[in-house]
This record gives sequence, C-alpha cells and structure tokens, in this order.
Amino acid sequence: MTFTHFGLLCSGGDSPGMNCAIRAVVRTALFHGVQVTGIKRGYAGLLRGEFQSMNLSSVGNIIQRGGTVLQTSRSAEFMKPVFRKKAVEILRAQRIEALVVIGGDGSFNGAKALWEEHQFPVVGIPGTIDNDVSSTEYTIGFDTAVQTAIEAVDRIRDTAHSHARTFLVEVMGRNSAAIAIKTGVCTGAENVLLPHEKVNHQKIVDDIQRGIARGKDSSIIVVAEGPTAGRSYEIQKVLRDNYQMDTHVVILGHIQRGGSPTSNDRFIASQMGNMAVEGLLSGRYPTVTVVQAGKVLLEDLANCVTKADHNFEEYQQLAQTLSI
Ligand code: F6P
Repeated sequence: MTFTHFGLLCSGGDSPGMNCAIRAVVRTALFHGVQVTGIKRGYAGLLRGEFQSMNLSSVGNIIQRGGTVLQTSRSAEFMKPVFRKKAVEILRAQRIEALVVIGGDGSFNGAKALWEEHQFPVVGIPGTIDNDVSSTEYTIGFDTAVQTAIEAVDRIRDTAHSHARTFLVEVMGRNSAAIAIKTGVCTGAENVLLPHEKVNHQKIVDDIQRGIARGKDSSIIVVAEGPTAGRSYEIQKVLRDNYQMDTHVVILGHIQRGGSPTSNDRFIASQMGNMAVEGLLSGRYPTVTVVQAGKVLLEDLANCVTKADHNFEEYQQLAQTLSI
C-alpha cells in the first residue's frame, strides 16, 4: 500500500525525548510527501477526535523540550474492543492510513490489537523512562531520567555527609529496576533494593554499621519503587522500630520524567522517529523501532508487547562490592 497520510500519538507516561521522536516522524514523513496528523492525549484523545495537522514548523524548537507537545494519557477505554473499533472508524473517517504510537508495552498492546482486529497498519516507538519493553535494549527517556536521579542523589550525598545520615532514595520504574540499578552504581550507593526483593533489614543495618566502623559518614540506599510508590516509608519504619536506626526518605517522583533530553535520548529518538516512517513506507509493519546490539532497527510488534526480562542482580552486587 502506498501511504499518503499518517497519524501520530504518544501514550502512557511521558518521557524526555518524545518530542525528538515526534519531530523526526513529522519531518521524515513530510520529506517523503506524506501528511501527518498529530493526535492529542493518546488513545483517549483519538476517541474524542482531538486532531492537529502537523507541518514543518509545528515541530520546530521542540527537540530540546521535555514532555510531549502532543500530550499523552493512559486510556482504560482503549482496552475494550468496542472502543478500538470506534477508533479505527474515526481514523478512517480522517483518511489516516497508518498510525505511529510512541509509548511503552501497554501502548503497544493497544497498537497490536488495532492491527489484529482491523488490519490497521501500526509502528511503535518505545518511549518510557522505565526501559522495560521486551526486545529492545533501550526506551526513549531512560538516559535523561537516570541523569536526573544521579544529580539528585549527588545533592543528597552532600547533605548526608555533612550530617552523617543514611538516606533511602526511592526512584521510579514501577516493576523495572533499571533506573534504580544504574543510579545506584553511578552514585556509589551502599545498596540498591530491587522492586520485588524481600527486604533484608538486618543486612542493611549490618552494612551501614560496617561502613560507619571503617569511617564512613553517610549511606545512600537506592530503592526501586515497585508496584506502588512509597515503599521506602515501610522500610524506614522497620529500621526505626526494630533496629533503632534513623533514616531519611526522599522520593524523587515525577522530577525524573521531566527535563531536557540528553544527547543519547535525542540521538536515539531521532533515529527511531525516522525509522518508524521509513518502515511504514517500505511495508515493514506491524513493527517497533528497537535497539539491539547497539543499533536501531525494526522488530516485529508481537515481540515488543511484554515487559523486558532484565537480570539486574549482578549490578546490585556491583554496587555493593564497590561501596564496601
Ligand atoms: O511508567 C513510567 C512511570 O513513570 C513509572 O516509572 C511510574 O511508576 C509511573 O509511570 C507513574 O505514573 P503516573 O505518572 O501516572 O503517576
């Protein structure tokens, strides 16, 4: 099929670098003479018909901006076939012939259903700070989020040292340990707690006391948030009530989702946006742009709709070994 008109949306949590991908999709499509319609606020906006025609200048001056100019949302409705049918009718009424979806595995499940139920051509671009989409080593926004977390922990370390304190610093990622592990190793954290790990409070106390005995003034424990944010407060309570150990909790939260994208995020997002369009134009769909062995390429969509299965225990051990 020769395409003349693409739709483009962001879905799920935003991530720094999404704008670089939007820019690359729009500019590559226009380069090939293909019209692009931006869909505001993800699948929810699609169902409400929130469209915006994109031209060369609609994506000018956005490469350096965090967030997404198209905005985003998580849509519960889109999980139901009846609403996906409605969405395809809306797309076809607009004469949109294919859809580029920037988001995580949940968003790609929606895209996969559009293809399987209605043969609507789709290509995904992985954008989430969690770096947890299967078949890709990288998702747009991860590098920026980690950099933000590292800068925050460095600041916390300054005051932790001055007051000889222990901090539990909780980072985002839900069930993914990716941000926690990289932040922990890169900040010299004394320990990194993985999302589903049963916390060994005695070991935390022993490690901290061993550090104090050898002259350490501060300890940082990076806590992966897990299914619900705020897990650090429970750990703090057990350490206080059962081990008489005082700690301070800092939950970094949404500051990790904002900010200007790093060069890595800009570079990969630019390649992915370009490749998504080239993929559609050459009939490579349904696919997702991925990084494998350090290269950006296209992977079957069906292989990108689950959570990545990374094993982070070796890096957890690395953080501990280097901070003895
Ligand atoms: O999936 C991205 C993410 O930032 C997770 O790391 C975090 O748990 C979640 O989104 C927060 O979602 P919300 O912005 O809807 O609170």
